[in-house]
Amino acid sequence: MRMTIVAAALMVAVGVQGVAAQDTASAKKEVSFKADVTPLVKKYCISCHAEEEYNPSEFSMDTYEITKKGGKRGPAWVAGKASESILVQKLWEKPPFGERMPLNSKKKIAAGTAKWMTPEEIRVFADWVDQGARNN
Ligand code: HEC
Repeated sequence: MRMTIVAAALMVAVGVQGVAAQDTASAKKEVSFKADVTPLVKKYCISCHAEEEYNPSEFSMDTYEITKKGGKRGPAWVAGKASESILVQKLWEKPPFGERMPLNSKKKIAAGTAKWMTPEEIRVFADWVDQGARNN
């Protein structure tokens, strides 16, 4: 009997949490590729990742379509899944391969003068992918 009550209470708690999580997700501001993502790409990425530039790993970010193609490791994102998208993973402190983006010299990283995106800016990329990575 006791177990059943505990189990029921747990199910209610999980249910309430699920609703709360959905609420925060839908209350989140819609992120725009043009107004929010592109300015960050221009500020942090395009100096290397442009067809006319160094273009490492054949990954250019000139336009939405070109960015979507991704680089030598394939598509830059899985729409709706930021944590599975290399575009977002590469901004993490410990990316799954290679260096953290935007690339900084080892010297600057060691000296603590490396320039990274702020957590809020990284959120913009992540939220945009989670919201479907649309050309909006
Ligand atoms: C100073 C040059 C430079 C800048 C600026 C830069 N990158 Fe990179 N990027 C590289 C290099 C070099 C590689 C290849 C080595 C590696 O993967 O770490 C790379 C690889 C990548 C890859 C992997 C592509 C693939 O298919 O393997 C992604 C994704 C990426 N960068 C995203 C970004 C994003 C997003 C920004 C801006 C926030 C950025 N980069 C800024 C130099 C740069």
